[in-house]
Amino acid sequence: MIERFLPVASTYAGDIDFVFDLIFWTVGFWFLLAQGVFFWLLVRFRKRDGVRAQYVTGELKSEKRFITIPHALVLVCDVFIVFFAIRVWYDVKQHLPEAQQTVRVVAQQWAWSFVQPGPDGRLDTADDIKTVDELHVQVGTTYHFQLVSRDVVHSFSVPVFRLKQDVIPGRVITGWFEPTRTGTFDIQCAEICGIGHGYMPGRIVIETAEQHAAWMASHSNREIAAASGPAAGGR
Ligand code: CUA
Repeated sequence: MIERFLPVASTYAGDIDFVFDLIFWTVGFWFLLAQGVFFWLLVRFRKRDGVRAQYVTGELKSEKRFITIPHALVLVCDVFIVFFAIRVWYDVKQHLPEAQQTVRVVAQQWAWSFVQPGPDGRLDTADDIKTVDELHVQVGTTYHFQLVSRDVVHSFSVPVFRLKQDVIPGRVITGWFEPTRTGTFDIQCAEICGIGHGYMPGRIVIETAEQHAAWMASHSNREIAAASGPAAGGR
């Protein structure tokens, strides 16, 4: 349902949407049913001349059924939702598939910088490709990201991936994604991180292999391309 408003652009976006849909329909069904019964009871047992209201304490076994049976049904639905939620959580957050590419994402007040390996395929060497507020990735490739913050807590959010991960100062948080379609999409900061929080948008450009190779080449040809060895400063 969400995919009608927001494209699906990662391998696990559909799984996340499935959990959203599951919760929406399960909760929606019970909400409508409960409200329906509620309003029906309001009308059915409304004030009538000559009919005295009954004082119901809910202590009789026949009355308790109206609490215990819906309660048990709600618990069954909870278990159902939690089961699927844990399965998806494991696939997205706990399980890290083999990386084909690695990108370092650096958050700071108030910009995103991205560091990708140059032609040597390794981070922290002189041919690293650094960009600000624009991340270029290749479709169909499994990426590991390393999230670091230079100052406060930020949150790396790529809505079309259904990815959102806090960035914690002093920690390197690793996760993954695999883009499934080409295009240019939003990157957002999803954690209030200061006065400029709203001015912290980025773009992710998902390219075909050819486009990405051309982009890499255009950046690798810059001044430092010939140099090699560890870069000063690390990030
Ligand atoms: Cu960074 Cu909000």
